[in-house]
Amino acid sequence: MSKLVITGGKSLEGRVRISGRKNSALAIIPATLLAEGESALENLPYIRDVDVYSAILQSLGAKVRRNGGGSLRVDSADLSGVSAVPFDLVKQLRASYYLLGVLLARNGRAEVAMPGGDDLGPRPIDQHLKGFRALGARVSIERGVIKVEADRLMGGSVYFDVVSVGATVNVMLAATLAEGTTIIENAAKEPHIVDLANYLNACGAKVRGAGTDVIRIRGVKRLSPATHAIIPDDIEAATFMVAAAATRGDVVLENVIPKHLEPITAKLLEAGVEVSENGDSIRVTAYDRPLAVNLKTMPYPGFQTDAMPPFTVMLATAEGTSVVTEGIWENRFRHAGEIKKMGAGIRVEGRTAVIEGVDRLSGAPVEAQDIRAGAALIVAGLVAEGETEVHGIEHVDRGYERTEEKLRGLGARIERVPESTPVS
Ligand code: EPU
Repeated sequence: MSKLVITGGKSLEGRVRISGRKNSALAIIPATLLAEGESALENLPYIRDVDVYSAILQSLGAKVRRNGGGSLRVDSADLSGVSAVPFDLVKQLRASYYLLGVLLARNGRAEVAMPGGDDLGPRPIDQHLKGFRALGARVSIERGVIKVEADRLMGGSVYFDVVSVGATVNVMLAATLAEGTTIIENAAKEPHIVDLANYLNACGAKVRGAGTDVIRIRGVKRLSPATHAIIPDDIEAATFMVAAAATRGDVVLENVIPKHLEPITAKLLEAGVEVSENGDSIRVTAYDRPLAVNLKTMPYPGFQTDAMPPFTVMLATAEGTSVVTEGIWENRFRHAGEIKKMGAGIRVEGRTAVIEGVDRLSGAPVEAQDIRAGAALIVAGLVAEGETEVHGIEHVDRGYERTEEKLRGLGARIERVPESTPVS
C-alpha cells in the first residue's frame, strides 16, 4: 500500500496527454469475447481495472496480450461452453457483470456473482435483468450468483425505467447475437455507449441509434474480430481541467474530444475560467479565484457525476457560495468530510452540498474512499498550502493512469511513498 504526499500551492503549467476512457474500456474489453478470433484494442489506459479485466478474460480461456502504447490483443477463439466467471476476480471489478450479456450471447448461459463496487449508495441491477428477460432469457439469483440462460436468445423490446449506462451496455452486448431485432428505449447516451456500438459494428454487428435514447440492434449470426481505438477519458480530462483552474494554472490537455467535455467547459466558463478548444486539445487558464457556480449532475449530456467530486474542490476555494446537487448516486460526497479537515466550508444534506468558498485550504492527512473522492483529494492537495497525505490511493489507481507522473510533468510536487507499517 502506498500514499501520495503532495506539497501544494503551486500553479499547474504545461501539457498533459489524456489516456483512454476507463468506462469505455470496461465495456469494450468484454465485448471482444463476442467475436471469435483476435481483436486489437488501442488507446487503452494503463490502470488496474484494465489489468483485472484482462485477468478475468484469461481465466475464461481467452489469450490476452498487452503491448506497449495502450494496446491489448484478445483472442477468444476457444470459449465454447464457458459460463461461470471466477468469484475472486469478479469481486474486484463491478463491470465484470458485462460478462452476463457477453456469455449469454455467445454460449447461451452465464453465471456471475452479484457485483460490488464503490459504495455510492444502492446499485440495483434490476434493469439489466429486465433487459435479459425481454430477450427471452431465464434469470435467477442463487446464493449471491446471477444466472442467465436461454436456449435461443430472441430480439425484444425493453423500456428502461431509469437511464442506466450498465443496463444499456449489457443489453446491447446480449442483443448483438440474438435472433431478430432488439429495441432499447430510454437508453443511456454517454459517448462510451457510442464507442461500444462503433466497436461492435466494426465486428459486423448492426447497432443503430447509439448516442440517442432509442437503440436498435439487429442480431447477426456471428461477429468477426476488429481493431478499435478507445475514446479519450472525459473524467480524467475533467480532473486535470479542474486542477488547472483551482491552482490558477495554465494547462493544455492533449488527446481529448472537446465536445464530450462541454458540460465541464460550460461550468468552468461560468466560474470565470478561460477555456479554449483547438482540434483534439483544450487549454484551461485561470488568473484568479474562480467564481461560485451551482450545478446538478445528470446523465449525459448533463454534468458528469464522476467529475463532480474534483469540481467541488475548485468550488471550495471559489468566491461565493455554490450549491451542488447529485442527480445519480445517493452517496457521492465521500470526499466532503476529508476536505473539511483541510478547511473547506462544505455542508452536505442528502444529495446536496452547499459550499462556501474560502481563501485557502491547508494540507492535512486525508483518506480516499472511492476513485473519484480520491481524485478530488489529490486536487485538494495541489491547491492547499503545505503538505497533504492522500491515503487509500489504490482506489485512484483503479482508474487514473500514472497520476503522479502526469502531475509532476505539470510542475506539481507530488510523490508516491509506501505506507509505514504499523508498530505492533
Ligand atoms: N440503476 C437502477 N437499476 C439498474 C441500474 C441502475 O436503478 O438496473 C440506477 C442506479 O442506482 C443509479 C442510476 O440508475 O442511480 C445510474 O446507474 P448506471 O447504471 O448508469 O451506473 P453504472 O453503469 O453502474 C456507470 C459508471 C459509473 C458512473 C455511472 C453514471 C462504469 C463501469 N461505471 O456506472 O462510473 O458513475 O455509469 O454515469 O461505466 C466511476 O467511474 O467512478 C463510476 C462510478
